[in-house]
Amino acid sequence: MAFSLRAKAAKRLLIAAVLPVALFATSTHAQDDSQWQSGKNLYNNVCGHCHSPEVGVGPELAGRGLPEPYIRAIVRHGFRAMPAFPASYIDDESLAQVTEYLASLPPSTDQQ
Ligand code: HEC
Repeated sequence: MAFSLRAKAAKRLLIAAVLPVALFATSTHAQDDSQWQSGKNLYNNVCGHCHSPEVGVGPELAGRGLPEPYIRAIVRHGFRAMPAFPASYIDDESLAQVTEYLASLPPSTDQQ
């Protein structure tokens, strides 16, 4: 009886102590790097769906030297037809990376 009570308590302690640590460990692991790994990945999976010259929904961003604070302000707050993206979806680190990536691209030749 005393043994089984102690076993139950130990089990509870294990759940209370280990589970949060395990959850915390996975969530910190996800933030080791930026959410999108690279600016190229973010551009290809999000921005490019509207901004690539082949799509043309949003204006071309490549090679225009747009400053990071400008890009961050538009991404965070949206701009007319452009939807806003919260930091939970695109973190600041990823925005810095996409700014660098866009600056590294040549401007498109068919830009008007
Ligand atoms: C759902 C489509 C869509 C997505 C996805 C999207 N944009 Fe846009 N974006 C637009 C549109 C449309 C505009 C033009 C808004 C207007 O002028 O009415 C725009 C405008 C902008 C501008 C201003 C451009 C200028 O010429 O001043 C920036 C900077 C920008 N977007 C950055 C981004 C970045 C970075 C991403 C990815 C994180 C992104 N956008 C994702 C549709 C999108």
